[in-house]
Amino acid sequence: MHWQSQWHPSGIPQLRRCTSNTRRPRVGFEEESRLANTDRDWNGRYLAGDLPWDSGLASRELQRVIEAQRIAPCRALELGCGSGTNAVELARRGFDVTGVDCAPQALKIAREKAAAAGVNVRWIEADVQNFGAGQPPFDFVFDRGCYHCCRRVDFAGYQATLRNVTRPGTLMLCLAGNVDDQSDSHIPKVSADDLQREFGPLFDFILRRPFHFQDAGGVEGPLGWSVLMVRRSSNTI
Ligand SMILES: C[S@@+](CC[C@H](N)C(=O)[O-])C[C@H]1O[C@@H](n2cnc3c(N)ncnc32)[C@H](O)[C@@H]1O
Repeated sequence: MHWQSQWHPSGIPQLRRCTSNTRRPRVGFEEESRLANTDRDWNGRYLAGDLPWDSGLASRELQRVIEAQRIAPCRALELGCGSGTNAVELARRGFDVTGVDCAPQALKIAREKAAAAGVNVRWIEADVQNFGAGQPPFDFVFDRGCYHCCRRVDFAGYQATLRNVTRPGTLMLCLAGNVDDQSDSHIPKVSADDLQREFGPLFDFILRRPFHFQDAGGVEGPLGWSVLMVRRSSNTI
């Protein structure tokens, strides 16, 4: 399937830092990023180096999908970009990339990776459950391991963000834990029904297949879902 014709990068995005919406009191950016409502101390984990998800390797599945679906460089957003390996990989491939994460230490590492790779990425410290209102939508959205955490905390907020950051035709690739995973990993897990119920109102599924995350050293990690979706013109929410 060829998708390039749908996406032509439309100039430099004019992203502003995350602004508050009606669900939360209006606060400045620095305060708002501290309000990220999460199920764990993400920044503390980056400071402690307690990062079982962070293989340091660009996601094989992301690269496979980009190549198999011939996704051409475009304006891309990574939700929960962590230490930036995949955002840097997208930038290296010519995408115009914005990476969002709530953990300042993750973004510090990400900035260093981008500098070392000689690529530009727009890094934004913000809560992905309260992001993107009033900003131009993206052409491609990537999420590896953030959705499956946020859905347990504030899925309505995450879904509102998806509405903000996409437009009809936007592609989204989501890599999430799979309920059929038998490993002893503590990865959050979702079922095919969860994916349909939570993404179905906004997106049509292009492919949904089980895959394995990669752990450090390229070792096979937990079973996940790889879901490529396209935002439809009308939605049911
Ligand atoms: C499992 S890690 C995955 C990180 C990265 N995508 C990767 O593959 O290495 C989940 C990431 O989502 C971020 N995160 C979790 N909840 C968030 C929120 N509400 N807003 C922004 N980032 C969040 C965490 O800081 C963490 O970097």
